[in-house]
Amino acid sequence: MAVRLKKFQRVFYEVDGFSLEVREAKPADAKRLWEIQRQKKVNNFLLFSSYSFEKYKKRFLSRLRDFDGKTVVAALDGIVIGRAFLKLGRGRASHVANFGIFIDEGFQGKGIGRILMRELFNYAKSIGVEKLEDEAFSDNKRALRFYKKLGFRIEGVRKRKFVRDGRHFDSVLIGKFL
Ligand SMILES: CC(C)(COP(=O)(O)OP(=O)(O)OC[C@H]1O[C@@H](n2cnc3c(N)ncnc32)[C@H](O)[C@@H]1OP(=O)(O)O)[C@@H](O)C(=O)NCCC(=O)NCCS
Repeated sequence: MAVRLKKFQRVFYEVDGFSLEVREAKPADAKRLWEIQRQKKVNNFLLFSSYSFEKYKKRFLSRLRDFDGKTVVAALDGIVIGRAFLKLGRGRASHVANFGIFIDEGFQGKGIGRILMRELFNYAKSIGVEKLEDEAFSDNKRALRFYKKLGFRIEGVRKRKFVRDGRHFDSVLIGKFL
């Protein structure tokens, strides 16, 4: 089946008595997402260290326009507290997609990451993606446990792939067949 992007249909959940909406990201989300990705407990585990809002916004808007994938956010009572994206592979890897996720450090551990991933799985499957892949810092124990619980398997380790604060870290490659 050829993989083709389509609109992400928004969905609602209830979390601790609040309404959680998962929907496609829009330009106005840039500021909140920039704030979240700068938080230490989030930024430590991302590929890029934080940078200026102007640069972030530019990249974010171009990603919304041209990206060969989909970015979704989780909003709790209207406030964005997390983001996940899917990026389609190309050519002979077009049945595979990369993904990324983060949740505001004040809202981690409440099941919101699991909800975002469930929606990403459903969306990916519905457009014909067969496999999801990501890589994590080897010291990101939280994410590695999280991925394991969601059925991902470790597929390899790239030695000393990342440098953060002058220290080298391995990257752990994870994958899951949908
Ligand atoms: C990793 C991350 C996305 C998980 O999202 P989350 O909303 O905190 O996770 P959830 O609350 O949905 O947890 C889902 C499962 O993972 C497990 N889990 C999450 N955090 C855990 C922790 N600190 N220790 C043990 N298990 C944990 C939970 O037990 C839960 O399973 P359960 O529902 O059976 O109890 C989030 O912590 C995050 O944004 N981290 C920083 C950015 C990051 O590392 N992104 C990934 C880069 S590779």
